[in-house]
Amino acid sequence: MNESFFRMILSRHSLGAKHLTIPAPDVGALRLAVTAALRVPCHDEGLPFRWVEVASRDRLADLFESVLPDDADEETRAKARGKAHKAPLCIALIGIGMTDQGRDRASDEKLLSAGASLMNFLGAMHAQGFAAKTVSGKDFPAPDGLYDPSYERLLAFVLVGTPDTPINYRDIGQGNDERQPLSRW
Ligand SMILES: Cc1cc2nc3c(=O)[nH]c(=O)nc-3n(C[C@H](O)[C@H](O)[C@H](O)COP(=O)(O)O)c2cc1C
Repeated sequence: MNESFFRMILSRHSLGAKHLTIPAPDVGALRLAVTAALRVPCHDEGLPFRWVEVASRDRLADLFESVLPDDADEETRAKARGKAHKAPLCIALIGIGMTDQGRDRASDEKLLSAGASLMNFLGAMHAQGFAAKTVSGKDFPAPDGLYDPSYERLLAFVLVGTPDTPINYRDIGQGNDERQPLSRW
C-alpha cells in the first residue's frame, strides 16, 4: 500500500480566499496540477473540460459587474468587482459539450469527468504545498471569451494560494468515519 497517497488525500481540505497568500503556484506547479487534472476517467476521446487561468482580474471584475442589475449602486458594484481579485491565483474549470438545455447520460458522464479533474487538480495543488477553494461560477450571458456558451459551461472557479498556516500532511482520517456514504446492495 502506498501510504503517502492516503496521507495526501485524507489531509487535503479547502481554505477560504482570506487564508490564501502569495506566492501563487508558479507556471511549473500549475502545469503539473493541470497534467494531473487531465488523468481522469473519460468516456470519450476528447476531454469534456478545460482549465483557464484568469490572467486579467479586471476583465473578470467586468464580467461580475455585467450581471448586476442596471440600477445597482456603487457599493454593490465594488463588492462584485472585489470578488474577482480574491486569492493569488484564480482558475476557471470549463465544461465542454455541456449546455443548460437537457440532461442525459452522456452529459452526466462528462460532468463526472470534470469533477474528477477538479479533484485531481485540488490534490495536486495540496501535494505541492498550496491550498485552494472551489467556488461557484455564474452563468454570464456575454462571457467575453472566457467560454463559449453555445457548447460550454462555466463549472467553477478555483482560488489557489499559499496557506497562511503550514499544511499538515498528517492523515486526518482512518477510514472509520461513521458518516461514510457506503452501503451494500
Ligand atoms: C462546484 C463547487 C462549487 C462550490 N462553490 C462554493 C461557493 O461558492 N462558496 C463556498 O463557500 N463553497 C463552495 N463550495 C464548497 C467548497 O469548495 C468546499 O468544497 C467546502 O467548503 C468543503 O471543504 P473541503 O474541501 O475542506 O471538504 C463549492 C464546491 C464545489 C465542488
